[in-house]
Amino acid sequence: MSVLIRGVRCYGEGDRVDVLVADGQIAEIGDVGARDADVVIDAPGQVLLPGFVDLHTHLREPGREYTEDIETGSAAAALGGYTAVFAMANTTPVADSPVVTDHVWHRGQQVGLVDVHPVGAVTVGLGGTQLTEMGMMASGAAAVRMFSDDGVCVADPLVMRRALEYATGLGVLIAQHAEEPRLTVGSVAHEGPTAARLGLAGWPRVAEESIVARDALLARDAGARLHICHASTAGTVEILKWAKAQGISVTAEVTPHHLMLDDSRLADYDGRNRVNPPLREAADAAALRRALADGVIDCVATDHAPHAEHEKACEFAAARPGMLGLQTALSVVVATMVEPGLLTWRDVARVMSERPAEIVGLPDQGRPLEVGEPANLTVVDPQGSWMVTGEQLASRSANTPFEAMTLPATVTATLLRGRVTARDGKSPA
Ligand code: DOR
Ligand code: ZN
Repeated sequence: MSVLIRGVRCYGEGDRVDVLVADGQIAEIGDVGARDADVVIDAPGQVLLPGFVDLHTHLREPGREYTEDIETGSAAAALGGYTAVFAMANTTPVADSPVVTDHVWHRGQQVGLVDVHPVGAVTVGLGGTQLTEMGMMASGAAAVRMFSDDGVCVADPLVMRRALEYATGLGVLIAQHAEEPRLTVGSVAHEGPTAARLGLAGWPRVAEESIVARDALLARDAGARLHICHASTAGTVEILKWAKAQGISVTAEVTPHHLMLDDSRLADYDGRNRVNPPLREAADAAALRRALADGVIDCVATDHAPHAEHEKACEFAAARPGMLGLQTALSVVVATMVEPGLLTWRDVARVMSERPAEIVGLPDQGRPLEVGEPANLTVVDPQGSWMVTGEQLASRSANTPFEAMTLPATVTATLLRGRVTARDGKSPA
């Protein structure tokens, strides 16, 4: 199988080139000319990037397939330009044993649109007390390399300390959903003037920041690596800056929705805007954008969280937290970071592909656009634009907060090991 991508600019830089892909690798870059290839993609002036890697996605299989499954989620991922995604462990049953993590891995490979790497739970049943057999999951078919109780926080400091120590021994990563549960009982929205005016129970910034600070110190103490999920406040940015300056091995992600949206969206009580951590204030979003530009925040991760219509179209406080993200991530990053001049296309490759691949240690993702490298690639039309319609997304759910917004940039093709997994907004037949 060979694919010829014609007229692209690698990382949006330099002259237009043709890129020939054969046997799953980049075979030639340059003026390849009219050469026979099984598939020809004409992409004059478009941007070629390494395939995106999402460290944080919820694919809902097993257990809530009425909202998403590995097949529909993989299609959404490929259409969004992703070649690898990490599927969070808060499924039913929880991904706390190799039975579940190996199922997720095998099913992802069977679907074949994106590498679906299962995240293993840190504690049994996400219960927060008993550590899982991380080693068994790490040595299974799925080779689990990231562990998280995402959805809930590993709140007990002793459990978190043991988890960091155990993970360090195994060479795997702990990703923390930072939320001190005693400070967010009943919370549904960011604690601030907006929630006060709307009569919504507040989720204070300190519930996140106190855990980020605590866990940075626990990581220092254990000589461990720590990853912070969905950083959402200006204070978290300050703590990350401090921790990194101390040489603590901490990395962090930010979601597209926290880069673009703030709690002014809550005025109409639309359940689509409920998410955990909540949309914060405009100044927090601005601090997150600066931190991503400066590298204090390492990467973008979607926190793609599908929910059914009846779980979102209800009273705000009853709506389930979470937003779709896989198909809109690139466009939101372009709107919030590239168009204002905070990131170049080369930086987009860093925050959406190279850094996430590095953080979890995926050897074949986030690689340079060079001959001999695996052909995990994304082609982006930087001049494109599209209007988001939840119903038209590939996910089984439609809960996008970007409904009816016109966003810049379109993913025109995605290649996984040289196979086309998305083309012009469509999954392969
Ligand atoms: O908004 C969220 N939704 N935040 C989480 O941490 C979990 C996620 C979900 O699973 O729906
Ligand atoms: Zn989370």
